[in-house]
Amino acid sequence: MSLFAFELGRKKELCFAELVSVLGKDKLQERNIDTAIFEIPKINPQGLQNSLGGTIKIVEIFDNIPYEGDCRNLLPKIFPIIEAKLRKSFENYSGKLPFAVSLLSFKNPNELDIRQLLNFSKKILKSLGINCRFVNKDFSNTKPSTIYKARVVEKGIDICLIRGVRNLFIGETVAIQDIDSYSLRDYDKPKKDARVGMLPPKLAQIMINLAEVDAKTIYDPFCGTGTVLIEAMLLNKTAVGSDLDPRMIDFSKENCAWAQKEFKTESPFRLFQKDAQYIQKMDLPEKIDLVVTEGYLGKPISKVPDLEYQEYAFRELTNLHMNWLQNIYALTPKHCKIVMCVTAYKSGANLIHLPKFAELAKRCGYKVTQTYTYDREEQIVARDIKVLEKI
Ligand SMILES: C[S@@+](CC[C@H](N)C(=O)[O-])C[C@H]1O[C@@H](n2cnc3c(N)ncnc32)[C@H](O)[C@@H]1O
Repeated sequence: MSLFAFELGRKKELCFAELVSVLGKDKLQERNIDTAIFEIPKINPQGLQNSLGGTIKIVEIFDNIPYEGDCRNLLPKIFPIIEAKLRKSFENYSGKLPFAVSLLSFKNPNELDIRQLLNFSKKILKSLGINCRFVNKDFSNTKPSTIYKARVVEKGIDICLIRGVRNLFIGETVAIQDIDSYSLRDYDKPKKDARVGMLPPKLAQIMINLAEVDAKTIYDPFCGTGTVLIEAMLLNKTAVGSDLDPRMIDFSKENCAWAQKEFKTESPFRLFQKDAQYIQKMDLPEKIDLVVTEGYLGKPISKVPDLEYQEYAFRELTNLHMNWLQNIYALTPKHCKIVMCVTAYKSGANLIHLPKFAELAKRCGYKVTQTYTYDREEQIVARDIKVLEKI
């Protein structure tokens, strides 16, 4: 078993929940501001990273220094640890080495002096005959995207100092979010439709992972352009999708076929056109293990809706959710959870949620076991992510 730190993405609670679901609560050691530390068996780090939508990077921890108060006086203890690591890793290295130091979970980034850490490391590398190229600009903390672009993980080293509850953890980044792959899935699939909105692939991946089940077959009854289906296929699941709009079925077919080729996956997919409220047993001959869907979020809007519109939209959505949830309950096995988005409106800092969703779910035979909000600053419509289990 080894200690690994996972840097959490923008929506920390959601990203943390994904990790707990995938790695297990019993493996969690501690949760800090923007990292979670787990003790898990040695892994293929990039493989695990690619399966997690909410993790920015994975750090393998190789040492720790207990501290009390703050980390200000720890440099004399950190230096020998970094020196030993660099000597061991780059004894026989030649060439120019991209090098970074990252501070994680520090409320105050000035608590440790990055300049001193970088200069010390440079001196050690120089004594090994290695020229290093600092990725940290202006001796400040590095963005993960900069580390990714400079290919530090493959070609060099990103030393991470993580401020834990009682320990300063020292580690090395062993995997980083593949920004190019997400951007390909997000923007380069052949069919897109701004009107149905675009579920970020990372969020689709998180939603699949939140279910805590090893599902073989995943169904999206509001599949749109197929974002959930593609992410399911990339996680080696069989993907089944349906949509009311025949155009969306054509779009999803083309996008899923593109994903099979582009990402060299043999995961199968199947699509059919139907209203989610009227799916029948014969429409789903395969056993569905998990339903993951963005669902219908209501008509696109460009300004914060007034009270009258909110009531109208929430009434329409309540009816739709009631009908399709009742319907799907009867067609799926007991273990089949639902992970779905429910519309919320943003008005300044306030969130207006669909009223009484837990009661609605209960009337359809489900209890809501997890809720998180996913929103972006510029958007009026936010998504409440709900995990539903059969009662
Ligand atoms: C928000 S979009 C889903 C977008 C999708 N997650 C994606 O990334 O492309 C909602 C989809 O629900 C479909 N839809 C709306 N009402 C429906 C219903 N009653 N049954 C099935 N599909 C429906 C729409 O045609 C639309 O494609």
